[in-house]
Amino acid sequence: MKRNCLLTTGLKAVLATGLGGLLVLSGPQGSNAEAKTWPSVRSPIEKDPIIEAKIDDWLSKMSLEQKVGQMIQAEIKSISPDDAAKYHIGSVLNGGGSWPTDDANGPLGAWMSMASLFYGASMDTGDGRLAIPVMWGTDAVHGHNNVVGATVFPHNIGLGAANNPGLMRDIGTVTAREVAVTGIDWTFAPTVAVAQDIRWGRTYESYSSDPKIVANLSKEILLGLQGHPALDNFLSQQKVIATTKHFIGDGGTIDGDDQGNTVLPEDELFDIHGQGYVQTIGAGVQTVMASFNSWNGDKVHGSQYLLTDVLKGKMGFDGFVVGDWNGHAQVEGCSNSSCPQAVNAGVDLFMVPEDWKAFLSNTVSQVKLGEIPISRIDDAVRRILRVKYRAGMFDHGKPVEHQLAGRASLIGHADHRAVARQAVRESLVLLENNGILPLNPKDKIIVTGSGADNLAFQSGGWTVTWQGRDLESRIINPRKYYQGHTSILDGMREAVKTAGGKVKTDPKAKADVAVVVFGEEPYAEFDGDIASTDFDLKASKDFALIQDFKARNIPVVTVFLSGRPRGVDAAIDASDAFIAAWLPGSEGAGVADVILGDKYSFKGRLPFDWPASTDEGGNAKTRYARGYNAAINIGSEP
Ligand code: GLC
Repeated sequence: MKRNCLLTTGLKAVLATGLGGLLVLSGPQGSNAEAKTWPSVRSPIEKDPIIEAKIDDWLSKMSLEQKVGQMIQAEIKSISPDDAAKYHIGSVLNGGGSWPTDDANGPLGAWMSMASLFYGASMDTGDGRLAIPVMWGTDAVHGHNNVVGATVFPHNIGLGAANNPGLMRDIGTVTAREVAVTGIDWTFAPTVAVAQDIRWGRTYESYSSDPKIVANLSKEILLGLQGHPALDNFLSQQKVIATTKHFIGDGGTIDGDDQGNTVLPEDELFDIHGQGYVQTIGAGVQTVMASFNSWNGDKVHGSQYLLTDVLKGKMGFDGFVVGDWNGHAQVEGCSNSSCPQAVNAGVDLFMVPEDWKAFLSNTVSQVKLGEIPISRIDDAVRRILRVKYRAGMFDHGKPVEHQLAGRASLIGHADHRAVARQAVRESLVLLENNGILPLNPKDKIIVTGSGADNLAFQSGGWTVTWQGRDLESRIINPRKYYQGHTSILDGMREAVKTAGGKVKTDPKAKADVAVVVFGEEPYAEFDGDIASTDFDLKASKDFALIQDFKARNIPVVTVFLSGRPRGVDAAIDASDAFIAAWLPGSEGAGVADVILGDKYSFKGRLPFDWPASTDEGGNAKTRYARGYNAAINIGSEP
């Protein structure tokens, strides 16, 4: 069914001038007025009077309990489909490391089965219930990364290094298709954080410290995820609802402290951290996630100024604001199960993973007591229903009837992996090369190091599990979680074999050259916060390997896996070539594509400054500036 999304005049202008880029209008249409702080970003999707009338009708029929139920998102481990129906819950999510069964390697069909159960229950009008489809959200942040066998792209920092807008569109398209196969409606992506302090554990979820790169790449991946508002594919059955996150200032906290305090004047908050919102709202994003951090000491989840006056008022965002994981509880006076302040501030859908029943009951009481005006509840429900209508959730029918439903062959499809492998190639940044690269595949090559054959290291956090490791035991994910992936060693073996050679893995073997792969172990969010950018080379067995090769006059190519730049001067200085590979994801073979033979060159450029190791005073100078790539601009080291 054709999407009934009316085109704004701005969008007609885009159509007239071609789809090269969505117009983001600030001030009178087409004026050259200086973009001011929080410009009015005319959404390309006009409010549809037919949809709005349907919502009016819903609101007139819904009880207060049904309305508040729509404003709640519960975690799939803490709610049954029957309870979701009974309490009129509007949404569910699977958090990182949460799957429809207790087994990550469970049947792929279990995702669709659970989606069908939640849909069926929410559409059952028994007991006078209203048929409003539940909306399932997931963190498909670098592919459909919770699902074993899915294509896993390089994390955002690597995509920022590649800085290829067309590739981003493809990545969004592939991700949406694989998510749609499993019956899920919504991904909590793209992150548009503009990380300013790389000690932040979420630096790798940021494309760059440059707001322009973040704005451009997030718009493009969004157009892949949701489709283009001017085209029939917008929120079609091969697309997913997307989320721009985390509004606002997540990447600007003092010392990179996750969920900390971003202290900035308002114009700088906008200039640095607001550009991704301007571009993605202008490209039709339907949800925005509120951020855990504070701005000048005030928690964003409780900021009516930011969530309502700025985002919805000045910028004109007409989708809905989803809270982060119990983020409302960090507002003064709030808890997981109660936060009228965040409701009044402008959070529309509350991510209350476990305490959803208490939150529902407390919020209903707070409305009855006059602490929350019913107009705020109605506005939140209107926004939620508006997005469900725009996404065709009332039209698409049962998840199993969707176009891509159950098409398991699409999960990790070769064509999808080819897109990811291109992204790996283009993400690699060459920091040093004394001429040893590219390697000759016919040479005797050792490939070794803790990251050479380590799929957990190369995919990082947000991959099948939240932290890339088991939460209790801290043991990194088992290899069986990475079905279909290729390690860097796999890729080197394949390429050298094709050239008639054989890779060695014994570091004591004789060789012409050694490739040493090492770096950070997986982490996510605050678990990855660090006090110093230095990497502890003294304790590193991998660095000892590099030193041993040097002592044996065997040249070394170091491939460094990390979620951010680190101070590794001694390793860089001991290497004949040093490559920043970031967190490449499932297609580790893309590394061999570039270091072996001359088919591909190093295209990636640093998306962040790369620090030198700290001096005695703990100060880290910049060793390579953002934009650097030894293959392109030799000598531009600061
Ligand atoms: C996390 C993250 C957010 C994610 C959400 C659901 O705490 O902050 O990015 O989308 O919870 O997993």
